Amino acid sequence: MATQTRYTGLIERYRDRLPVAANTRLISLCEGRTPLIQLQNIPRLIGKDVDIYVKFEGLNPTGSFKDRGMTMAVTKAVEAGSQAIICASTGNTSASAAAYAVRAGIKAFVLIPDGKIALGKLAQTLMYGAQIIQINGNFDAGMQLVKQVADHAPVTIVNSINPFRIDGQKTAAFEIVDELGDAPDYHCLPVGNAGNITAYWKGYTEYATDSATHKAVTQKLPIMCGYQASGAAPFVQGKMIENPETVATAIRIGSPQSWDFAWNAQKESKGWFDACTDTEILHAQKMLSQYEGIFCEPASATSLAGLLKDLASGKIPEGSRIVCTLTGNGIKDADIAIAQCKDSHPVTIDASLDAVKKAILDSL
Ligand code: F0G
Repeated sequence: MATQTRYTGLIERYRDRLPVAANTRLISLCEGRTPLIQLQNIPRLIGKDVDIYVKFEGLNPTGSFKDRGMTMAVTKAVEAGSQAIICASTGNTSASAAAYAVRAGIKAFVLIPDGKIALGKLAQTLMYGAQIIQINGNFDAGMQLVKQVADHAPVTIVNSINPFRIDGQKTAAFEIVDELGDAPDYHCLPVGNAGNITAYWKGYTEYATDSATHKAVTQKLPIMCGYQASGAAPFVQGKMIENPETVATAIRIGSPQSWDFAWNAQKESKGWFDACTDTEILHAQKMLSQYEGIFCEPASATSLAGLLKDLASGKIPEGSRIVCTLTGNGIKDADIAIAQCKDSHPVTIDASLDAVKKAILDSL
């Protein structure tokens, strides 16, 4: 029987491109190696000859791309002797930080906006046993507090201002190039705090650059397209926003921390930022579920919502190869999903063969 090496996570896989030593204790939940799924029905439906792939990051261990960054951030925190980590979060970072803290045997503190995170994310964070601190304020307020308290308490910040988060997350770009054989023409992402667009750009450029230790893997770089929710679109408005609002609570952010890095990604890649309305975001989320069988959370669908607009206008031409990152799993936000399907009524019937038969025949 052929022996296969067991997959043990992205740090092990990309160890030579990450800042870990041979004897570093790796804190991992086998994150990464997420599927790159080619869309089959949506391109036909919109009548465009394009190759669209989605990188489904909702299949990471805690259901979002944050796990890529968290395995690195927590590994480095533990290596440095830290006993506690802290983050502000719209939900996914808190779930991920909580899980990796358990794995490492350290404590996690998470600041979340009271009542403004999806229920599944709260449930995860509670189950992992993190210390949850709900604030009467939004993510941006939480982020400021986290930065201040880290100067006064022995806690390591694991938001994406921690450079190890970016290093972990850049591996998604490596995986895409390794799988497609090259970078795509366009890469579409939802943008909130802007860590992920920063990380992808770092990954793509590292793979396209000769260094002392590596020959370039590809010559090609993608055009980066960052999409925001219109009520929370500081990059589109060109300035920070006081009171961000969107149904996509994961990206309800007005003061992105990776502001300069994200602008750099946009400029160097000759890409752009654009905004999508909540209606467009929810429509894209539903399309992915109902035409492709892929259930992502609302914020994640912003990448497809933006792409659909840019394909319709011709800004992204036919013949292109495009990757959209779907950042989180739809199951995290069941409330929104059920609200989206309020017109599809489940039938309730007697538990009898006749009743089931009738229910089937009635809806054929
Ligand atoms: N999509 C999802 C599902 C997210 O949770 C986030 C960010 C983003 C997109 C945006 O990524 O911030 O790197 O630009 N969520 C953070 C959190 C803020 O706290 O979970 P970004």
